Amino acid sequence: MNDDLARAVAILQQGGLVAFPTETVYGLGANAEDPAAVARIYAAKGRPQDHPVIVHLAPGAALDYWAAAVPPEATALAAAFWPGPLTLILKRHARIPDAVSGGQDTVGLRCPAHPLAIALLTAFGGGVAAPSANKFGHVSPTTAAHVHEEFDADGTVGMVLDGGSCAVGIESTIVDLSRLDTHGPVLLRPGHISPQAIAAVIGQLPVAPDAAAPRASGTLASHYAPHTPVAMQPRAQLVETLARLRAAGRRLALIHMGDMDASGLHASLALPARPDGFAHALYAALRTMDHSGAELILVEAPPTDGDWLGVNDRLRRAAHGSSGIVHGLLNAHVAG
Ligand code: TXA
Ligand code: MG
Repeated sequence: MNDDLARAVAILQQGGLVAFPTETVYGLGANAEDPAAVARIYAAKGRPQDHPVIVHLAPGAALDYWAAAVPPEATALAAAFWPGPLTLILKRHARIPDAVSGGQDTVGLRCPAHPLAIALLTAFGGGVAAPSANKFGHVSPTTAAHVHEEFDADGTVGMVLDGGSCAVGIESTIVDLSRLDTHGPVLLRPGHISPQAIAAVIGQLPVAPDAAAPRASGTLASHYAPHTPVAMQPRAQLVETLARLRAAGRRLALIHMGDMDASGLHASLALPARPDGFAHALYAALRTMDHSGAELILVEAPPTDGDWLGVNDRLRRAAHGSSGIVHGLLNAHVAG
Protein backbone atom coordinates (compact mmCIF):
# COMPACT_ATOMS: atom_id res chain seq x y z
CA MET A 1 0.00 0.00 0.00
CA ASN A 2 1.41 3.43 -0.84
CA ASP A 3 1.70 6.21 1.75
CA ASP A 4 -1.35 8.17 0.56
CA LEU A 5 -3.57 5.13 0.71
CA ALA A 6 -2.27 4.15 4.15
CA ARG A 7 -2.95 7.68 5.41
CA ALA A 8 -6.46 7.64 3.91
CA VAL A 9 -7.26 4.32 5.60
CA ALA A 10 -5.95 5.65 8.93
CA ILE A 11 -8.14 8.76 8.62
CA LEU A 12 -11.22 6.61 7.94
CA GLN A 13 -10.39 4.34 10.90
CA GLN A 14 -10.11 7.39 13.16
CA GLY A 15 -13.53 8.70 12.11
CA GLY A 16 -12.27 11.37 9.71
CA LEU A 17 -13.32 12.28 6.16
CA VAL A 18 -11.51 11.28 2.95
CA ALA A 19 -12.53 12.56 -0.48
CA PHE A 20 -11.84 9.99 -3.17
CA PRO A 21 -12.40 9.58 -6.91
CA THR A 22 -15.00 7.24 -8.37
CA GLU A 23 -15.80 6.68 -12.04
CA THR A 24 -18.88 8.94 -11.63
CA VAL A 25 -17.94 11.88 -9.37
CA TYR A 26 -15.72 12.38 -6.30
CA GLY A 27 -17.17 11.11 -3.02
CA LEU A 28 -16.73 12.45 0.52
CA GLY A 29 -16.17 9.28 2.52
CA ALA A 30 -16.43 8.19 6.13
CA ASN A 31 -16.62 4.84 7.92
CA ALA A 32 -20.23 3.80 7.30
CA GLU A 33 -20.41 1.99 10.64
CA ASP A 34 -19.27 4.99 12.69
CA PRO A 35 -22.28 7.29 13.24
CA ALA A 36 -20.09 10.16 14.49
CA ALA A 37 -17.99 9.98 11.32
CA VAL A 38 -21.12 9.92 9.14
CA ALA A 39 -22.42 12.95 11.06
CA ARG A 40 -19.21 14.78 10.02
CA ILE A 41 -20.15 14.26 6.36
CA TYR A 42 -23.53 15.89 6.92
CA ALA A 43 -21.93 18.80 8.76
CA ALA A 44 -19.28 19.31 6.07
CA LYS A 45 -21.84 19.28 3.25
CA GLY A 46 -24.47 21.30 5.07
CA ARG A 47 -26.83 18.48 4.19
CA PRO A 48 -30.11 17.75 6.01
CA GLN A 49 -29.78 14.81 8.46
CA ASP A 50 -32.69 12.88 6.93
CA HIS A 51 -30.99 12.39 3.54
CA PRO A 52 -29.43 8.93 3.19
CA VAL A 53 -25.89 8.38 1.88
CA ILE A 54 -24.64 5.57 -0.34
CA VAL A 55 -22.39 2.90 1.21
CA HIS A 56 -19.44 2.08 -1.08
CA LEU A 57 -18.09 -1.46 -1.00
CA ALA A 58 -15.03 -3.26 -2.37
CA PRO A 59 -15.61 -5.85 -5.11
CA GLY A 60 -16.83 -9.11 -3.62
CA ALA A 61 -18.19 -7.58 -0.40
CA ALA A 62 -21.12 -9.49 1.10
CA LEU A 63 -24.39 -7.68 0.40
CA ASP A 64 -26.18 -9.59 3.17
CA TYR A 65 -23.94 -7.91 5.75
CA TRP A 66 -25.59 -4.59 4.81
CA ALA A 67 -29.02 -5.66 3.56
CA ALA A 68 -31.72 -7.51 5.49
CA ALA A 69 -32.72 -9.27 2.27
CA VAL A 70 -30.88 -9.64 -1.02
CA PRO A 71 -33.36 -10.43 -3.82
CA PRO A 72 -32.06 -12.32 -6.87
CA GLU A 73 -32.51 -9.11 -8.91
CA ALA A 74 -29.90 -7.42 -6.70
CA THR A 75 -27.45 -10.29 -7.07
CA ALA A 76 -27.93 -10.28 -10.85
CA LEU A 77 -27.50 -6.49 -11.21
CA ALA A 78 -24.41 -6.49 -8.99
CA ALA A 79 -22.92 -9.31 -11.04
CA ALA A 80 -23.68 -7.50 -14.30
CA PHE A 81 -22.64 -3.93 -13.42
CA TRP A 82 -20.26 -3.89 -10.42
CA PRO A 83 -17.76 -2.47 -10.17
CA GLY A 84 -19.65 0.28 -11.95
CA PRO A 85 -22.00 3.28 -11.81
CA LEU A 86 -25.06 1.58 -10.30
CA THR A 87 -26.48 2.00 -6.77
CA LEU A 88 -28.93 -0.54 -5.38
CA ILE A 89 -31.42 0.37 -2.64
CA LEU A 90 -32.20 -2.63 -0.42
CA LYS A 91 -33.86 -3.18 2.97
CA ARG A 92 -31.28 -2.21 5.61
CA HIS A 93 -29.81 -4.84 7.94
CA ALA A 94 -30.52 -4.21 11.64
CA ARG A 95 -26.79 -3.93 12.40
CA ILE A 96 -26.35 -0.93 10.08
CA PRO A 97 -26.55 2.43 11.86
CA ASP A 98 -29.56 4.64 11.20
CA ALA A 99 -27.29 7.52 10.27
CA VAL A 100 -26.31 6.19 6.82
CA SER A 101 -29.89 5.87 5.72
CA GLY A 102 -31.24 9.09 7.16
CA GLY A 103 -33.60 7.09 9.38
CA GLN A 104 -35.12 5.12 6.46
CA ASP A 105 -35.30 1.33 6.64
CA THR A 106 -33.25 0.94 3.44
CA VAL A 107 -29.60 1.20 2.50
CA GLY A 108 -27.96 2.31 -0.76
CA LEU A 109 -25.05 0.09 -1.87
CA ARG A 110 -22.57 0.56 -4.69
CA CYS A 111 -19.21 -0.85 -5.77
CA PRO A 112 -17.42 1.91 -7.73
CA ALA A 113 -15.13 1.13 -10.68
CA HIS A 114 -12.30 3.67 -10.19
CA PRO A 115 -9.02 1.84 -9.38
CA LEU A 116 -8.18 4.26 -6.54
CA ALA A 117 -11.64 3.80 -5.01
CA ILE A 118 -11.27 0.03 -5.24
CA ALA A 119 -7.81 0.20 -3.66
CA LEU A 120 -9.13 2.38 -0.81
CA LEU A 121 -12.19 0.21 -0.17
CA THR A 122 -10.16 -2.99 -0.30
CA ALA A 123 -7.49 -1.65 2.07
CA PHE A 124 -10.09 -0.22 4.48
CA GLY A 125 -12.08 -3.43 4.44
CA GLY A 126 -15.43 -1.96 5.52
CA GLY A 127 -18.14 0.14 3.91
CA VAL A 128 -17.46 3.79 3.14
CA ALA A 129 -20.48 6.09 3.31
CA ALA A 130 -20.02 8.77 0.68
CA PRO A 131 -22.20 11.38 -0.92
CA SER A 132 -20.76 13.47 -3.73
CA ALA A 133 -17.96 15.70 -2.36
CA ASN A 134 -19.74 19.04 -2.77
CA LYS A 135 -21.77 21.40 -0.63
CA PHE A 136 -25.45 20.40 -0.49
CA GLY A 137 -27.30 21.25 -3.71
CA HIS A 138 -24.15 22.36 -5.55
CA VAL A 139 -22.51 20.86 -8.66
CA SER A 140 -20.78 17.50 -8.02
CA PRO A 141 -16.96 17.46 -8.33
CA THR A 142 -15.35 15.52 -11.16
CA THR A 143 -11.72 16.44 -10.38
CA ALA A 144 -9.69 16.73 -7.15
CA ALA A 145 -9.41 20.49 -7.80
CA HIS A 146 -13.21 20.74 -7.71
CA VAL A 147 -13.20 19.08 -4.27
CA HIS A 148 -10.66 21.62 -3.01
CA GLU A 149 -12.89 24.41 -4.37
CA GLU A 150 -15.76 23.08 -2.26
CA PHE A 151 -14.02 22.35 1.05
CA ASP A 152 -10.56 23.86 1.51
CA ALA A 153 -11.74 26.86 3.49
CA ASP A 154 -13.48 24.86 6.21
CA GLY A 155 -10.72 22.30 6.86
CA THR A 156 -13.17 19.46 7.57
CA VAL A 157 -11.82 17.09 4.93
CA GLY A 158 -8.82 15.11 6.17
CA MET A 159 -7.49 14.24 2.74
CA VAL A 160 -8.35 14.39 -0.97
CA LEU A 161 -7.14 11.43 -3.04
CA ASP A 162 -6.44 12.61 -6.59
CA GLY A 163 -7.50 10.13 -9.25
CA GLY A 164 -7.75 12.52 -12.17
CA SER A 165 -10.97 13.39 -13.96
CA CYS A 166 -13.96 11.07 -13.48
CA ALA A 167 -14.70 9.05 -16.64
CA VAL A 168 -18.52 8.99 -16.41
CA GLY A 169 -18.99 12.48 -14.97
CA ILE A 170 -22.56 12.22 -13.61
CA GLU A 171 -23.72 10.32 -10.52
CA SER A 172 -24.64 6.62 -10.51
CA THR A 173 -27.96 5.23 -11.66
CA ILE A 174 -30.04 4.43 -8.54
CA VAL A 175 -32.48 1.51 -8.60
CA ASP A 176 -34.73 0.82 -5.63
CA LEU A 177 -35.23 -2.92 -5.10
CA SER A 178 -36.52 -2.53 -1.52
CA ARG A 179 -40.21 -2.78 -2.45
CA LEU A 180 -40.07 -5.28 -5.31
CA ASP A 181 -43.16 -7.21 -4.18
CA THR A 182 -45.43 -4.19 -4.29
CA HIS A 183 -43.77 -1.71 -6.67
CA GLY A 184 -41.28 -3.63 -8.80
CA PRO A 185 -37.87 -2.07 -9.51
CA VAL A 186 -37.95 1.75 -9.34
CA LEU A 187 -35.53 4.14 -11.05
CA LEU A 188 -34.76 6.80 -8.40
CA ARG A 189 -32.03 8.55 -10.40
CA PRO A 190 -31.10 8.02 -14.09
CA GLY A 191 -27.41 7.71 -14.96
CA HIS A 192 -24.93 6.06 -17.29
CA ILE A 193 -26.55 2.63 -16.86
CA SER A 194 -29.86 2.93 -18.70
CA PRO A 195 -33.26 1.47 -17.78
CA GLN A 196 -32.95 -0.73 -20.90
CA ALA A 197 -29.60 -2.12 -19.73
CA ILE A 198 -31.17 -2.92 -16.37
CA ALA A 199 -34.17 -4.57 -18.01
CA ALA A 200 -31.81 -6.72 -20.08
CA VAL A 201 -30.55 -8.23 -16.80
CA ILE A 202 -33.71 -8.51 -14.66
CA GLY A 203 -36.33 -8.79 -17.41
CA GLN A 204 -38.21 -5.74 -16.20
CA LEU A 205 -37.91 -2.00 -16.90
CA PRO A 206 -37.49 0.04 -13.70
CA VAL A 207 -40.44 2.40 -13.34
CA ALA A 208 -40.58 6.06 -12.33
CA PRO A 209 -40.85 6.72 -8.57
CA ASP A 210 -44.28 7.16 -6.95
CA ALA A 211 -44.96 9.49 -4.02
CA ALA A 212 -44.08 6.78 -1.47
CA ALA A 213 -40.71 5.95 -3.04
CA PRO A 214 -37.65 6.44 -0.81
CA ARG A 215 -36.46 10.02 -0.81
CA ALA A 216 -33.28 10.91 -2.68
CA SER A 217 -31.75 14.39 -2.40
CA GLY A 218 -30.59 14.12 -6.00
CA THR A 219 -34.26 13.96 -6.88
CA LEU A 220 -35.07 17.37 -5.41
CA ALA A 221 -36.33 19.76 -8.08
CA SER A 222 -33.33 22.03 -7.54
CA HIS A 223 -29.95 20.28 -7.24
CA TYR A 224 -26.58 20.04 -9.00
CA ALA A 225 -26.75 23.82 -9.45
CA PRO A 226 -24.00 26.40 -9.95
CA HIS A 227 -24.38 29.83 -8.26
CA THR A 228 -25.02 31.54 -11.61
CA PRO A 229 -28.54 30.92 -12.97
CA VAL A 230 -28.75 28.23 -15.67
CA ALA A 231 -31.30 28.19 -18.49
CA MET A 232 -31.71 25.35 -20.95
CA GLN A 233 -33.29 25.93 -24.36
CA PRO A 234 -33.55 24.00 -27.61
CA ARG A 235 -31.23 25.29 -30.34
CA ALA A 236 -33.75 27.33 -32.36
CA GLN A 237 -35.03 29.19 -29.29
CA LEU A 238 -31.50 29.52 -27.95
CA VAL A 239 -30.25 31.27 -31.09
CA GLU A 240 -33.02 33.83 -30.73
CA THR A 241 -32.45 34.34 -26.98
CA LEU A 242 -28.73 34.78 -27.60
CA ALA A 243 -29.31 37.37 -30.30
CA ARG A 244 -31.62 39.42 -28.11
CA LEU A 245 -29.57 39.24 -24.89
CA ARG A 246 -26.32 39.83 -26.78
CA ALA A 247 -27.84 42.96 -28.34
CA ALA A 248 -28.76 44.08 -24.82
CA GLY A 249 -25.12 43.77 -23.76
CA ARG A 250 -25.74 40.93 -21.29
CA ARG A 251 -22.75 38.90 -20.01
CA LEU A 252 -23.68 35.44 -21.26
CA ALA A 253 -22.00 32.06 -20.91
CA LEU A 254 -22.99 29.44 -23.46
CA ILE A 255 -22.63 25.65 -23.29
CA HIS A 256 -23.52 24.11 -26.62
CA MET A 257 -22.95 21.06 -28.81
CA GLY A 258 -21.03 22.63 -31.68
CA ASP A 259 -21.64 24.88 -34.70
CA MET A 260 -22.91 27.88 -32.77
CA ASP A 261 -21.96 31.50 -33.33
CA ALA A 262 -20.29 32.46 -30.05
CA SER A 263 -19.17 35.93 -31.09
CA GLY A 264 -19.88 38.63 -28.53
CA LEU A 265 -20.43 36.14 -25.75
CA HIS A 266 -18.71 36.47 -22.38
CA ALA A 267 -17.73 32.78 -22.50
CA SER A 268 -18.61 29.68 -24.49
CA LEU A 269 -17.80 25.98 -24.48
CA ALA A 270 -18.68 23.25 -26.96
CA LEU A 271 -19.36 19.82 -25.43
CA PRO A 272 -19.43 16.54 -27.37
CA ALA A 273 -22.82 15.87 -28.99
CA ARG A 274 -22.87 12.33 -27.57
CA PRO A 275 -24.41 11.41 -24.20
CA ASP A 276 -21.23 9.89 -22.70
CA GLY A 277 -18.95 12.72 -23.81
CA PHE A 278 -21.47 15.39 -22.76
CA ALA A 279 -21.92 13.80 -19.31
CA HIS A 280 -18.16 13.49 -18.82
CA ALA A 281 -17.62 17.22 -19.47
CA LEU A 282 -20.85 18.70 -18.06
CA TYR A 283 -20.00 19.48 -14.41
CA ALA A 284 -16.56 20.89 -15.20
CA ALA A 285 -18.22 23.09 -17.86
CA LEU A 286 -20.83 24.35 -15.37
CA ARG A 287 -18.06 25.21 -12.89
CA THR A 288 -15.97 26.99 -15.52
CA MET A 289 -18.97 29.05 -16.59
CA ASP A 290 -19.87 29.74 -12.96
CA HIS A 291 -16.40 31.27 -12.50
CA SER A 292 -16.51 33.23 -15.75
CA GLY A 293 -18.37 36.18 -14.31
CA ALA A 294 -21.34 35.70 -16.65
CA GLU A 295 -24.76 36.66 -15.31
CA LEU A 296 -26.52 33.74 -17.01
CA ILE A 297 -25.41 30.31 -18.23
CA LEU A 298 -27.37 29.28 -21.31
CA VAL A 299 -27.25 25.58 -22.21
CA GLU A 300 -28.30 24.04 -25.50
CA ALA A 301 -30.92 21.43 -24.56
CA PRO A 302 -29.67 17.98 -25.55
CA PRO A 303 -31.99 15.39 -27.07
CA THR A 304 -34.40 13.88 -24.53
CA ASP A 305 -34.43 10.30 -25.78
CA GLY A 306 -32.46 7.14 -25.02
CA ASP A 307 -29.07 7.55 -23.39
CA TRP A 308 -29.59 11.28 -22.79
CA LEU A 309 -31.85 10.59 -19.77
CA GLY A 310 -29.16 11.16 -17.10
CA VAL A 311 -27.81 14.36 -18.64
CA ASN A 312 -31.32 15.80 -19.06
CA ASP A 313 -32.17 15.01 -15.46
CA ARG A 314 -29.07 16.88 -14.16
CA LEU A 315 -29.58 19.88 -16.46
CA ARG A 316 -33.25 20.18 -15.54
CA ARG A 317 -32.34 20.33 -11.85
CA ALA A 318 -29.43 22.73 -12.41
CA ALA A 319 -31.81 25.03 -14.30
CA HIS A 320 -34.74 24.71 -11.90
CA GLY A 321 -36.32 28.02 -11.03
CA SER A 322 -34.22 30.05 -13.48
CA SER A 323 -36.69 30.46 -16.33
CA GLY A 324 -38.01 33.69 -14.81
CA ILE A 325 -34.49 35.12 -14.99
CA VAL A 326 -34.35 34.73 -18.78
CA HIS A 327 -37.73 36.39 -19.13
CA GLY A 328 -36.59 39.13 -16.77
CA LEU A 329 -33.47 39.82 -18.84
CA LEU A 330 -35.43 39.75 -22.10
CA ASN A 331 -38.05 42.14 -20.73
CA ALA A 332 -35.44 44.45 -19.22
CA HIS A 333 -34.08 44.68 -22.76
CA VAL A 334 -37.52 45.54 -24.17
CA ALA A 335 -38.15 48.08 -21.42
CA GLY A 336 -34.67 49.61 -21.69
O1 TXA B 1 -22.21 8.21 -8.30
C1 TXA B 1 -22.61 8.35 -7.15
O2 TXA B 1 -23.63 7.77 -6.72
C2 TXA B 1 -21.81 9.26 -6.23
C3 TXA B 1 -20.45 8.64 -5.98
C4 TXA B 1 -19.65 9.41 -4.94
O3 TXA B 1 -20.62 7.31 -5.62
N1 TXA B 1 -22.50 9.49 -5.01
C5 TXA B 1 -23.59 10.29 -4.93
O4 TXA B 1 -24.03 10.47 -3.63
O5 TXA B 1 -24.11 10.82 -5.87
P1 TXA B 1 -25.10 11.56 -3.24
O6 TXA B 1 -25.26 11.42 -1.76
O7 TXA B 1 -24.69 12.88 -3.72
O8 TXA B 1 -26.37 11.05 -3.90
C6 TXA B 1 -26.86 9.79 -3.49
C7 TXA B 1 -28.31 9.73 -3.70
C8 TXA B 1 -29.05 10.73 -2.87
O9 TXA B 1 -30.04 11.31 -3.68
C9 TXA B 1 -29.63 9.90 -1.76
O10 TXA B 1 -30.81 10.45 -1.26
C10 TXA B 1 -29.84 8.57 -2.46
O11 TXA B 1 -28.73 8.44 -3.27
N2 TXA B 1 -29.86 7.46 -1.52
C11 TXA B 1 -28.85 6.96 -0.81
N3 TXA B 1 -29.28 5.98 0.02
C12 TXA B 1 -30.60 5.87 -0.20
C13 TXA B 1 -31.64 5.07 0.36
N4 TXA B 1 -31.40 4.20 1.32
N5 TXA B 1 -32.87 5.25 -0.11
C14 TXA B 1 -33.13 6.16 -1.07
N6 TXA B 1 -32.21 6.96 -1.62
C15 TXA B 1 -30.97 6.81 -1.20
MG1 MG C 1 -24.80 14.71 -4.50
